[in-house]
Amino acid sequence: MNKVIIIFIFISFGCYSQKTPARPTGLVASKAMVVSAREEASKIGIEILKKGGNAFDAMIATELALAVAYPYAGNLGGGGFMVYRKASGEIGSLDYREKAPLAATKDMFLDEKGNVIKGKSTETALAIGIPGTIAGIFAVHKKLGSLPIAEILKPVIALAETGIIVTKRQESRLNDYRSKIIKVNGDKTLFATVYKENDIIKYPALAATLKRISKNGRDEFYKGKTAEILVKFLREKGAIITMKDLAKYEAKWRKPLTFDYKDLHIISMAPPSSGGICMAQIFKMIEPFDLATMGHNSTNSIQVIVEAERRAYADRSYFLGDPDFIKIPLETLMSPTYLKQRMSNFTFDKATLSSTIKEGKVNLNESTETTHYSIVDQFGNAVSATTTLNDGYGSKYYCDELGFFLNNEMDDFSAKPGEPNMFGLVGNEANSIAPQKRMLSSMTPTIVEKNGKLYMVVGSPGGSTIITSVLQTILNVYEHNLSMQEAVNVPRFHHQWLPDLITFEPKTFDSTTFENLKFKGYIINEKTTPVIGKVDAILVLPNKTLEGGADFRGDDKAVGF
Ligand code: GLY
Repeated sequence: MNKVIIIFIFISFGCYSQKTPARPTGLVASKAMVVSAREEASKIGIEILKKGGNAFDAMIATELALAVAYPYAGNLGGGGFMVYRKASGEIGSLDYREKAPLAATKDMFLDEKGNVIKGKSTETALAIGIPGTIAGIFAVHKKLGSLPIAEILKPVIALAETGIIVTKRQESRLNDYRSKIIKVNGDKTLFATVYKENDIIKYPALAATLKRISKNGRDEFYKGKTAEILVKFLREKGAIITMKDLAKYEAKWRKPLTFDYKDLHIISMAPPSSGGICMAQIFKMIEPFDLATMGHNSTNSIQVIVEAERRAYADRSYFLGDPDFIKIPLETLMSPTYLKQRMSNFTFDKATLSSTIKEGKVNLNESTETTHYSIVDQFGNAVSATTTLNDGYGSKYYCDELGFFLNNEMDDFSAKPGEPNMFGLVGNEANSIAPQKRMLSSMTPTIVEKNGKLYMVVGSPGGSTIITSVLQTILNVYEHNLSMQEAVNVPRFHHQWLPDLITFEPKTFDSTTFENLKFKGYIINEKTTPVIGKVDAILVLPNKTLEGGADFRGDDKAVGF
């Protein structure tokens, strides 16, 4: 074994350093907190908590408020995952991921020669999966909610009616996407309007949809008038989703994926999200190395994390998909013997080339969007939820009559083994398209316990970079003793096996680190990904108060009391 590795091996697993915790630099609240992509959504979550609601009621309100305030990713026309930990320590997770329609076929995005038709899985109405969000919030309400659904939806409906104030970032995003939105919806659509910073966007159609849902419940969306309007709209656009597809949709309670890292117990999302398993593999592969001594974002620590990421994402590509359709060897993938063997050819001297692990040459595309929010309530319950339309504004198809965008989540399937999706992620048979199947995700809503107590609630958007962003945020607090807000702020990097590149947030790492890494054979990408993750997290401080980490890379905001 390489001498340097031996120096870095963490010999005594029983004695984790007891550093004085970092001084908080984010918002501190004594009882409860919501951190999300928009202040309006965080405030509505808090309003529900102040009314006596619990974290699950606040989840429902925050999720839907994001569809109003942050339609870039917040949605009724998409899906997501939620991980929870009750004050009692009971844990659980909900899969409200979209599904492939009954008429979907394995080759639906291929031409007659078997080649992927560019844009078909992202920009056409065939890209739309059966939405899961409304089924998700009603499943949460039925099992864990405490306030009546009408009371929870009331402030969201009011927000849709009074409207939200456009931020600078929102103005710029809408400018970037306007022509694509008009292309598929025509120039009478709501977002054909040029909105400037401080303008107000009102959503009367969405308010009416939410009122019907509030009155008629879950089935309004899947079997009622809303379903009929939606299917008619989808048919006109060339989608294959039918009334039968909507009626058959169910959100699913799943056993969370749990593992230990030193004295942390980490609770995350199991397949069909790759988030939990992929993050578990990376954590277990880096556990023997003393990252704290190596230093935050030092060449050596970047190397250890990158090499573990490379190996975990290679496994992701081959083994992972919807567990209702395929058998995933979860136990083996997480076994210490297997993971030790995976890292056995790692050396600090030079990069392991991805081509020596598995073949493939692809290009990484620009980062796309999803959104995450974290909640801790005054009773000690915690919710970590990540929700998505996939791309920014999803497929761009906006149903003006109902007031929401539709996802383009079908691109998260592997259209053809070995071909990259919009995140440059290469998939395999395990993630091939089949009717009613859920597409593999990278969403990683996560809750961390320390000494059996709630420690952190964390998650991020960012497609394939979600997993590595969540991982680094946990390490930043736990290994590098940063405050929650600092842990969110500091620069991040990402490797996903293929393409064989380390992507860094531009202009945030020093040139010596790059030179060191290049010397060892790593390929650096500092140009094509402006943002790696956008983390919203909550840390429980030793005196039991809560520190929020709201990502400055967006309009994200922590609100608490
Ligand atoms: N659509 C992004 C993800 O689920 O990973």
